[in-house]
Parts: sequence; C-alpha cells; structure tokens
Amino acid sequence: MLPAPPDCSFSSDNAAGVLPAVIDALAAANVGPATAYGDDPWTQRCVATFRELFDAPIGVSLCWGGTGANVVALATMLRPWQAVICPSGAHINVDECGAPERFTGCKLIDLPAPDGKLRPEQIIEVCSGEHSFHHVEPAVVSITQSTESGTLYTAAEIAELCEVAHRFGLLVHLDGARIANATAALGGDVRSFTIDAGVDVVTFGGTKAGMMYGEAVLHLRPELGDRVDVFRKQAGQLPSKMRFVAAQFEALLAEDRWIAAATRANRSATVLAEAAGSIPGVELSSPPEVNAVFARLPRPAIEALQAWSFFWDWDMSVNEVRWMTHFATTTDDIDRFVAGVRAAVADASA
Ligand SMILES: Cc1ncc(COP(=O)(O)O)c(C=O)c1O
Repeated sequence: MLPAPPDCSFSSDNAAGVLPAVIDALAAANVGPATAYGDDPWTQRCVATFRELFDAPIGVSLCWGGTGANVVALATMLRPWQAVICPSGAHINVDECGAPERFTGCKLIDLPAPDGKLRPEQIIEVCSGEHSFHHVEPAVVSITQSTESGTLYTAAEIAELCEVAHRFGLLVHLDGARIANATAALGGDVRSFTIDAGVDVVTFGGTKAGMMYGEAVLHLRPELGDRVDVFRKQAGQLPSKMRFVAAQFEALLAEDRWIAAATRANRSATVLAEAAGSIPGVELSSPPEVNAVFARLPRPAIEALQAWSFFWDWDMSVNEVRWMTHFATTTDDIDRFVAGVRAAVADASA
C-alpha cells in the first residue's frame, strides 16, 4: 500500500517552478515599453553580468529554450558538410528530434560513452582517419556538463578534450543545460571548466536552474558569434521581448542564486540516494555527482511507483530508473518518495 505521493515530481528538473526572485524580476521588468530584440537596458546589464562572470568580453545571445540554443550554438560553429562528435546519449543526439541535423545540415558522429563522457582517445580515433570530399569533416566536439548520465567532467578532463580537439582543428561546444549543477558541484568556479579549459561555445542553461524559460549561447571566443543573430532569427530563437529573458538571467545570476539553487538540488539528490539506497531491494547505480539518482529496483515496483508519482525509465534491460531533484525539492518530498519506494519494493517482494 503506497502512502500519499510527494508534492513535487522526481521526473525532471524541469518539473520545478520558478525561483521567487525570477518572478519578481519579471514583474519588475514589466514597466512600460522597451526596444525589442535586445536593445534594452535589461539585456545590456545581462550581457555585462555574463562578461563579469567569465571575466572576458564574450558574446552573449539569449534564446528561448535549450534545443534551440544548442542549434544556434552549433550553427555558428559549422559548415553544412561538417560533423559534430558527441556521446551517444547526448541530448543533441537523442532528445532534440533531429533539430541540430535539420537546422545546421550537419551529421552527428555519436560515440559510445556509458558514463556520458567522451574520452580524448575517441576524438583522436575519429580524426586520425582518412578524410576526403566523400566524407563529412569533423569540426565540433560537443560535450554536456553535467552529463545526461548525471556525471561530471573535471576541469582537467575538459581541458584535455579541448587540447585534443583544437590540435585536430575542431571547436568545442559545451551543452550546459545543467551548468549550474556542475558549477555548484565543482566548487563554484564556472570559468575553470569552460573558458580556462579552452571551451569555445557554451549553451548556458537558465530553465533548469530556476528560470521560467531562457538559455544563453555564450561565444567564449567572441569572433565565432559574428553572425549569431541571423542564426537566432532563422531558428526562431531571437526573443523580441528580450528584456524578459535578460531580467530572469540577471536575477538568477545575482547574489550567486544559481549556485545556491543548484547546491540545494544536488544536496537533495545525495539525501534521496542515501535514503533510497538503504532500502533492501534498491541498488544505486552509482553515488550521485549532481542532481540525478539512478537506481535499480524490481520491475513491478517501478511500474507501481511510476503510476503513483511519475519518473522516467533509464535502462530497463537492468531495471534502472532515473530520479531527478531540483532547487524546489523539499525534505518532505524526499521522505514521502522514499516511503513510497520502500512500500512498493516490499509489495513487489511479498
Ligand atoms: C542536456 C540537455 N540539453 C538541453 C536541454 C534543453 O532542452 P529543451 O529544448 O527541452 O529546453 C535539456 C533538457 O532536458 C538537457 O537535458
């Protein structure tokens, strides 16, 4: 018999609402007219805030959503005969409905990465082959930080990937839909694993971090973003009322709110993992590094729990599921969820 379900969902970090400071910033920005398409004081301040954060004159282009921002980022880095090397589980490869291929014309070369992380040897292997005009030309390495598998690259690992990519003439894109979680987990210094490590272009996530919507494409080498506005416009990623994306980012980045919120999300995953992992019949795939918990449990328990409080399957060949936490996850949510898991696993083995 399952208890009352938690108030929040462990299905996705996008199940969370919006940080109160972001809602306040949206209301505060709603003060009469402002020039459209980014020529407004909010966007100017937002650009300055990102430049301060990265301590460099980077290109900052605000977009509506994550898939679109990845498309814009990649489009600025590619010619139509070129290819992007990425892990097979990358969001751009499996969860964007082919948008990068459709809008940039590129081919994705997806490589096995059981823990979500590319290795330098894989890039060397792809780039060392023979290439002629019969073949696509690898031009970009795209990595995700934190990864879709809930893992983290260290700053040194990213620096090594960048060094190898650059040695072969490739650029490096970092999908940072969860860059806040990664930054919080790695001690708060976003520069260490991006600009200092040699990353060329970042998709900086706002939505999972506590915004209502909005992501930023950051050209850490600004010259790569020369034509970004035409790509944003074509991809439907140039918000006309830009000030409302900018105001959200300003509020998110102010007072390190993004770090504080991501720290809460990451801590909730640790608490959930410790509690659920101690239930006989539940096996954690690995300790959480950020805000994702991967666990294996009996299939009847999975089905009962998903009907009770939905979450996604991960690898059903081993009865593995994914539980995501976010900034709004409470200890009460975790307690209730763990009570449900305990009851469902007990029912399954009765
Ligand atoms: C790694 C990654 N990249 C990008 C996105 C953005 O996707 P969306 O287009 O749904 O905002 C997500 C969202 O789940 C993600 O997990």
